[in-house]
Amino acid sequence: MLSGRSVLLIVSGGIAAYKSLELIRRLRDRGVSVRCVLTKGGAQFVTPLSVAALSENKVYQDIFSLTDEAEMGHIRLSREADLVVVAPCTADLMARMAAGMADDLAATVLLATDKPVLIAPAMNSMMWTHPATQANLRTLEARGVRSVGPNSGDLACGEVGSGRMAEVPEIIAAVETFFATDLPLKGRRALVTSGPTHEPIDPVRFIANRSSGKQGHAVAAALAALGADVTLVSGPVTLTDPPGVRTVRVESARDMLNACRAALPVDIAVCAAAVADWRVEAAGQKIKKQVGGAPPVLTLAENPDILATLSAAGPQRPTLVVGFAAETESVIAHAQAKLARKGCDWICANDVSPATGTFGGDSNTLHIISASGVEDWPALSKTEAARRLAARIAEAFATAPQRTPAE
Ligand code: CTP
Repeated sequence: MLSGRSVLLIVSGGIAAYKSLELIRRLRDRGVSVRCVLTKGGAQFVTPLSVAALSENKVYQDIFSLTDEAEMGHIRLSREADLVVVAPCTADLMARMAAGMADDLAATVLLATDKPVLIAPAMNSMMWTHPATQANLRTLEARGVRSVGPNSGDLACGEVGSGRMAEVPEIIAAVETFFATDLPLKGRRALVTSGPTHEPIDPVRFIANRSSGKQGHAVAAALAALGADVTLVSGPVTLTDPPGVRTVRVESARDMLNACRAALPVDIAVCAAAVADWRVEAAGQKIKKQVGGAPPVLTLAENPDILATLSAAGPQRPTLVVGFAAETESVIAHAQAKLARKGCDWICANDVSPATGTFGGDSNTLHIISASGVEDWPALSKTEAARRLAARIAEAFATAPQRTPAE
């Protein structure tokens, strides 16, 4: 699939640059022609000689080098490849890309290119989670730049956290996804809800729940990996936005419903959010404690049911509507009742009683309930469960392309 493709690989200055040497090898093994740009920082970590030897090509380092420019001008360099990959992509290079700077060969090539760009960020976790870096990432993604990683784990600086460059096989998979023309959900639009909702009591207090958003975010990423054009509507979570997905952040159930309506029409809707069933009739001002007085009474009103609304959206109804059912007892029976009550096509039921550690945890045991029966899945990581669900959705669309894939 990759054979005959060409990649321009920009290696910037991070310790993860050593993995880029392996990346070059693995790309060459697959018949990809690789040309490399090494930044000044990158050359502190890997030598031009290793990069040249592995890529079997000249290495480009200096925008003002007469030999570089005589051989191939930076404009041509930026446009000859099918794809530009930046690995590792430092916080500094992300910032320069977002600002449109052209202060070295790498930044100039990235500004001048008319080709798609894939970045593999690598940095200290504080740098990665810094609002400046996250804002830069959103800017770049809004311009169509795709990203892979970073992963969480031990970082070279001795800290533990998010910021480790994606592993070489993950970067290769992202490159393959990019070149794949036969992704099963290509051309399909998907909407995913995720996370909790916050329902204000007054301007400073709110009611919430323990949903982390991990499962919904993983579903959004898995659908995107199969080629779907995904909008993720997320309540307040501490997760970073999944790459390659349009993320809309909301607070309350009503905001979430509005954002979902704005995303229609879609082919697929997966409602994984833990939407608050009730909202409070919120006070306009902070409720004051009355010394010796009675505690305030909160008057609750029912929130709109987003899953049921999407399932009954008439001509706007997504072809396949999938809900989740968080239960603490009689999981299957409650979920079957929920399927009928909400009018969706599938329900992914999970046991969220505290002993299972599902809420906020990393794994999930799902039962997929549809009109045709119950499929019991084993305990899987939320990422793996999301991959399976996305594959199952793709299968439904493949076997019934013209009809409602609901079973
Ligand atoms: N859901 C929704 N909007 C709501 C409530 C729930 O979209 N206002 C969706 C959830 O995203 C999930 C499904 O409905 O896909 C089931 O959520 P759950 O909380 O298990 O069900 P409830 O309808 O709240 O029922 P109960 O709390 O009685 O179990």
